Amino acid sequence: MSDETLISLNGIDRTFTLGDSQVHALRNVNLTITHGEYIAVMGPSGSGKSTLLNLIGLLDRADAGTYRLEGRDVTTLAPNEQAKVRSESIGFIFQSFHLVPRLTAAANIELPLTLSGMPASERTKRVAQALKEYNLTDRAKHRPNELSGGQRQRVAIARATILRPMVLLADEPTGNLDRTTGEEVVRLLEALNSQGMTLIVVTHDHALGARARRQIRMEDGSIVSDVTNTPEPATSGEASANIETANMASPNIDTQNPVS
Ligand SMILES: Nc1ncnc2c1ncn2[C@@H]1O[C@H](COP(=O)(O)OP(=O)(O)O)[C@@H](O)[C@H]1O
Ligand SMILES: [Mg+2]
Repeated sequence: MSDETLISLNGIDRTFTLGDSQVHALRNVNLTITHGEYIAVMGPSGSGKSTLLNLIGLLDRADAGTYRLEGRDVTTLAPNEQAKVRSESIGFIFQSFHLVPRLTAAANIELPLTLSGMPASERTKRVAQALKEYNLTDRAKHRPNELSGGQRQRVAIARATILRPMVLLADEPTGNLDRTTGEEVVRLLEALNSQGMTLIVVTHDHALGARARRQIRMEDGSIVSDVTNTPEPATSGEASANIETANMASPNIDTQNPVS
């Protein structure tokens, strides 16, 4: 495992028992994720996407296999230790926002800071900053039911990232939003990724999934494809746009237009 490895799953199984029947939500999942990646997880309903995300987010446990986070085996941590890792390293965003209904936007964003034991003066400063960043200052005192879907999701993103987690997990974050609002939310997530936060997004939306550098497809509890798009070349647009055409047109590409 390289130093860059953030998440490493090996032989992960997760089975749910419902009455007499067993559902294999995850079957022998192997997955390595590097710091700073942007991954879309796609696949039909019931294929295990949420189960995978919950597992990575330490909201659930595997029945078999090993989960390493930054090289540390977190599979068998006690619940309170798992909770500590989760609060320090992982941010979670859900389709239905999961805000605390009786708390204001500001108080929702403040929650992780309070739980981390941060002094009140520092909390107030950080919350004000987050409200500003997410364009929510004039909504600070509103409760979730007084906010639009987009505003709720922005509160949820602010709350999930206020402690700067290494990894941000989003389970269909645009599922309850109209397209324009959804795109705005995706851009906020992508901005966090470009600042270095590893981003894993579960989505049904193909256009959204296509924006990620790496696309993982699940079917029936297994990863059936895992594709990483070639990065945008760092060279100028003109030169890079020519590489493909030059390649087809001329067998002498190496000499004409050296590509390393
Ligand atoms: N808590 C649970 N109890 C029983 N079955 C569950 C539970 N969570 C998920 N499942 C089952 O596991 C499978 C995968 O579910 P899920 O990960 O939610 O799929 P997806 O997010 O891809 O729609 C489904 O068949 C689902 O019904
Ligand atoms: Mg799901």
